[in-house]
Amino acid sequence: MAETTETLFPMRKFFAPEFVFGVGALDLAGRYARNLGASRVFLVSDPGVREAGWVRDVEASLEAEELPWVLFDQVSPNPQMEEVEAGTRAFEEHRCDMICAVGGGSPIDCAKAVSVLSTNGGNIRDYLGVDQVPQPGCPLLMIPTTAGSAAEVSQFAILSDPRARRKCGIISKLIVPDVALVDPRTPCSLDTHQAAGGAMDTLTHAAEAYVSNAHSPVTDLLALEAIRLVGAHFEEGIAHPARPEHRGHLLKASLLSGLAFSNASLGLVHAMAHALGGMLDSIHGDSNALLLDGVVRFNLSSATSRYARVAEALGVSPEGLIPRLRELRGLAGLGEGIASLGATEAIIPDLVARAMADPCLVTNPRQPRPDEVAQLFREAL
Ligand SMILES: [Fe+2]
Repeated sequence: MAETTETLFPMRKFFAPEFVFGVGALDLAGRYARNLGASRVFLVSDPGVREAGWVRDVEASLEAEELPWVLFDQVSPNPQMEEVEAGTRAFEEHRCDMICAVGGGSPIDCAKAVSVLSTNGGNIRDYLGVDQVPQPGCPLLMIPTTAGSAAEVSQFAILSDPRARRKCGIISKLIVPDVALVDPRTPCSLDTHQAAGGAMDTLTHAAEAYVSNAHSPVTDLLALEAIRLVGAHFEEGIAHPARPEHRGHLLKASLLSGLAFSNASLGLVHAMAHALGGMLDSIHGDSNALLLDGVVRFNLSSATSRYARVAEALGVSPEGLIPRLRELRGLAGLGEGIASLGATEAIIPDLVARAMADPCLVTNPRQPRPDEVAQLFREAL
């Protein structure tokens, strides 16, 4: 069938925050906080990032601008709704008026949620879902220290509800940060497992954005370059943290994939990974890594030519795509199935129910039936 103008050029918007990428970007925190009108900064992080020294560097930058701050670093690897509530209480108690998050996706997503409550009030559950945030929050300055989540540029915040054993998302243009400071020095403090999981998350973001029903010419460019960078720098970036250029390239890939998926959204891998994370508190990058090849096999007939270009960006033939994804997973030290995360046959019905309700499913190129998702979980065990 001949392509029409409408199918060649479907109408799409693209939304991105201001960001600074490069060595030294982190040191601009104080200046940007000042420019965003801060009088007291709410600094959100976690214990691991603080230990790595990045919080201290940001504090020094705030000090140089004579800006007071309050540190809130009680954020779990999968940020919980109670932590958002505790953070909001601390934000209000100390009369802060701007949030700076330093860390991976967890502090950044927690910070986005605190920002929502800072101006909208109420309970964070009121704002779950797509476009449910009525008013912009306080200004957000984000400094990622992991290469993977890309939360510093995205319109997603993923939170855990431990009581319901569920991960929920706030998806809104109003939580896209005002500024991201992306410094290629930061991923060098990650251990091998964190770096590998982050790289697999980036690869999944880029691949899902590229085959998404909401992709556009701009997101395609970003996604393919992110895939190429992960393919080219995965081994060296994981194995040789002493050579910082490879981790820097992986951070650049993460940034590009974030700009792509924030606008094109994601797909079935993330819907299933969120289900695993909600029920088992599993690490997000590990979940993606263990599900990606199975979902590609499931989606292949609905996006054959697109997956061929994903393969090309990874430097393999179309037939070599799934083996290469499995190889990368093995190199990441994630050769086992999702049983290694604690999944069992008995919880598959609960996992399926959560995955089928996930908003990421909407843009997957092939809409699965519940029994097909169950089969994918089973095969991934
Ligand atoms: Fe992700």
